[in-house]
Amino acid sequence: MIEACIFDLDGVIVDTARYHYIAWKNIAEDLGFVFSKDDNERLKGIGRLESLNILLQIGNINLEEGEKNRLATIKNEFYLKLIEEMKPEEILPGVTNFLKDLRKNKIRIALGSASKNAPFILERTNLTTYFDAIIDGNMVSKAKPDPEVFLKGATQLGIEPTKCLVFEDAQAGIEAAINAGMHCIGIGKHENLKGADFVIPGFQEFNYDRLRSWYL
Ligand code: BG6
Ligand code: MG
Repeated sequence: MIEACIFDLDGVIVDTARYHYIAWKNIAEDLGFVFSKDDNERLKGIGRLESLNILLQIGNINLEEGEKNRLATIKNEFYLKLIEEMKPEEILPGVTNFLKDLRKNKIRIALGSASKNAPFILERTNLTTYFDAIIDGNMVSKAKPDPEVFLKGATQLGIEPTKCLVFEDAQAGIEAAINAGMHCIGIGKHENLKGADFVIPGFQEFNYDRLRSWYL
């Protein structure tokens, strides 16, 4: 029986992947190479510095740590400008109703995100109060597919991993959930979410009754 739901943020609650993409594309252009939308798929769910390393690999560029940190900071400043004015309208369809439905049914709710900007985004979209625990990129030292972010969420909620259900849009996140010994539902397309218990396109047609029928 599921007692807690743990949500990834980017691509599950809000569609921030396009903003991350614009910001990384900008860095790639400055470095003199093209960064495509397909390349961007590889950065989903991955932390900021890990993302930069993949970007540099794509561009075949070697940089010192100091320069990498400088570029990661520039990327983040640009990203922050893009999300500065984010509004509740940018919450993905069905998410708020599903969170309300979970609350009504006494399911505990946590956030498990690699993003250091997660608390800011939850504030901008007025979602902070739905979460009993918020684990973000500032609180973990190991990136997904390591299970750290989800295990910390379960610990903060005081619920066993086997009773937690993770919602994820990235392959690295599905693997992190499996590594944590949790159930997981993928958001998006099957081919990018191997190993998920179920895959749904989004939360529009999803509710607690459906969840219960899947996890008796
Ligand atoms: C993840 C995103 O949620 O957070 C990644 O899917 C992003 O694309 C990562 O790189 C880190 O985010 P931030 O906001 O700390 O740079
Ligand atoms: Mg994500």
